Amino acid sequence: MVLKEQTAKTEHAVHSTQLYESGVVPRRGETVMVAGEGCWMIDSEGRRYLDMTSSQGVAMLGYDHPALTAALQQQASRLHACPNFFHNDMRGAFLQELIAVTPPHMTRAFLANSGAEAIDGAIKFARLATRRTGIVAARNSFHGRTVGALSVTWNPKYRRKFEPLLPDVDFIHFNSSDGLDGAVSDRTAAVVLEVIQAEGGVHVGDADFLAAAQRVCRERGALLVVDEVQTGFGRTGRWFGFEHYNLEPDIIALAKGLGGGFPMGAVVYSDTVQESLFSGAHGSTFGGNPLACAAGVAALGVYRDGLIEQAERAGCRLREALEAAIGGRKVVREIRGRGLIIGVDLRTKAVPFLKTLMEEHGVLALPAGSTVLRLLPPLIIRDDEIDLAVEAIASTLPA
Ligand SMILES: Cc1ncc(COP(=O)(O)O)c(C=O)c1O
Repeated sequence: MVLKEQTAKTEHAVHSTQLYESGVVPRRGETVMVAGEGCWMIDSEGRRYLDMTSSQGVAMLGYDHPALTAALQQQASRLHACPNFFHNDMRGAFLQELIAVTPPHMTRAFLANSGAEAIDGAIKFARLATRRTGIVAARNSFHGRTVGALSVTWNPKYRRKFEPLLPDVDFIHFNSSDGLDGAVSDRTAAVVLEVIQAEGGVHVGDADFLAAAQRVCRERGALLVVDEVQTGFGRTGRWFGFEHYNLEPDIIALAKGLGGGFPMGAVVYSDTVQESLFSGAHGSTFGGNPLACAAGVAALGVYRDGLIEQAERAGCRLREALEAAIGGRKVVREIRGRGLIIGVDLRTKAVPFLKTLMEEHGVLALPAGSTVLRLLPPLIIRDDEIDLAVEAIASTLPA
């Protein structure tokens, strides 16, 4: 108990940057998470929680996955840091594997440490490649909280106090092809989009809209930047969300599942984009760290070994079970998503239900926007765990 209180207080005092108290995401009581196993998190008092969030979409392999743990342990005992001006065997191995799973025209990668950093890199590269500054993004988008990423994030609550942000950013309605047509011009460097808007409410992109985004970019000389930070690495039942639409993005931003939950990010792009970069155009001290790369090699190996197909199958089961259990209830407006990113859109605020789910059923879920209960379970989730989560949600929501 003393440990729990001290830890919670210390963390509260020191790590105040997440601003949970603003009400965006109420901190879940004083719980101190200390361990994990499969799809379960374990708190300081030994209570177990079925984690339907993968720690904000990152722990795709669950916790203490043998491949990931072994890779980190081995690399930690060999070399845990290596500057970017030296080659490193693990970094080289990871880059090769990463490029092998992205589309053939994407031959280059810049390694960073987070999703927001990947978006910042993508914006810089698009500006250099096109020699333009304009960006078109979508309402309800979320791309991160660094100044660059915040500039293409829509929610005024996150932005307002930090303005002016980057100039020349236009926000169009997501899924509005007319909006695109009006906004993309010969001054536009990039159109930056999520194919499923995740934090913004689990809004799935229309095929027509995304095809129009690619077409308009090609016609007007802008680059299509797809943010796969939350939808990448099997989350939607394919390696990347854009594969559902046969898109050929010019740049993709990656993070979350990239290292199986170990912090890393990446910008992946073509030789054409590479040609415009100059020495010193971008860099990162920690990007491409050997430990992160070892985690990445291990995670990519597990994804390749059938985990993505498993995610698609588990996603169908979760979606069908939710439809059967709560689909007809008055409080449920819509159940939407793809693979293992699912939003239950409610006719009321989602946050109070998240609290009940955790406290009374030991199930962790996330909000997305104010009314959506978002599920992002680890891709390794088993059928009995899916059933348990659905039962908990069914008994939490009003009949
Ligand atoms: C689609 C998307 N892009 C970017 C980010 C920012 O990632 P990070 O928090 O690692 O900076 C997030 C974070 O949730 C995200 O969902």
